[in-house]
Amino acid sequence: MSPLHVTLTLPEDATDAALRADVLRGLTATPKWLPPKWFYDARGSELFERITELPEYYPTRAEREVLAARSGEIAAASGARTLVELGSGSSEKTRYLIDALPLSAYVPVDVSESALTQAGGALIEERPDLEVHALIADFTAPLALPATPGPRLVAFLGGTIGNLLPVERAGFLASVRALLAPGDGLLLGTDLVKDERVLVRAYDDAAGVTAAFNKNVLAVVDRELGADFDPDAFDHVALWDAEREWIEMRLRSRTAQTVKVPALDLAVDFAAGEELRTEVSAKFRKEGVTGELAAAGLELTHWWTDAEGRFALSLSVVR
Ligand code: SAH
Ligand code: TRP
Repeated sequence: MSPLHVTLTLPEDATDAALRADVLRGLTATPKWLPPKWFYDARGSELFERITELPEYYPTRAEREVLAARSGEIAAASGARTLVELGSGSSEKTRYLIDALPLSAYVPVDVSESALTQAGGALIEERPDLEVHALIADFTAPLALPATPGPRLVAFLGGTIGNLLPVERAGFLASVRALLAPGDGLLLGTDLVKDERVLVRAYDDAAGVTAAFNKNVLAVVDRELGADFDPDAFDHVALWDAEREWIEMRLRSRTAQTVKVPALDLAVDFAAGEELRTEVSAKFRKEGVTGELAAAGLELTHWWTDAEGRFALSLSVVR
């Protein structure tokens, strides 16, 4: 069995400095916000896996349906020998691509070390022929990829691109484009605009798993920065912004309260009912995806959806 290579490109102190900077900026802003990448500590990654199994959370099943049906076509169009996956998480759906592509290397990239070592460990046992090179890295920062054979396919699944704001998406897509040589490609998963009730339910499930996931970001700030957020003093809120076509996740303070963040020497006042924005999840239409890709110098060559038209995978191969 080939060993699992794990490269840490996020030094512990840099992570700490980035968390401090983000929390300071977000909690002193009006309205208050926190950036979503801090959801994914070990418990956050576990809670996200439970979200993917909820009856209300259709995106994972819809995307799996597309991958199961189209991985042969994707392999034929891309011929990739290296698969780079951004925000790979459990790499569960990725198996369809790994099985279909003529791969020699798989490069999962994630901020969650626990998700990477679990997924990577399982994969090297199943596929001892495959070089698995896991990168603990922030996909919104410049990426240094290991030297592996081309062509490369960069996959960004799960609709995670929708968790970036439009201006961040533009910068992100341009930097992905800069990683690609002729013959390389981008495989992008996007959740699609649909009935508001279906969307809101996917982010506010009956069992409360999404609520626990949302509140987990408070537990991360408590643990890492010594803050005294009481997750039970906040309610989970998910609402649809019809104009911007995104789901917005918030945490609403149940009472007037002051939260201390000793590592930042900060005391944060919340009014009763005041909301903290934790994440957006943008939903897309084909014209929008085509346009955003084109703006980054990428041409959409294939567009596939599940039978119900809930979720799309698009492929852009660089000429
Ligand atoms: N691709 C998987 C997981 C999606 S959840 C799926 O489709 O089910 C989003 C994943 O992106 C999580 O594993 C999270 O840890 C990771 N992530 C979020 N922000 C990130 C960032 N800025 N850089 C790297 N990984 C990030
Ligand atoms: N990428 C996922 C999505 O937008 C992440 C996610 C699912 C999420 N449920 C959430 C993030 C709840 C925060 C809160 O669908």
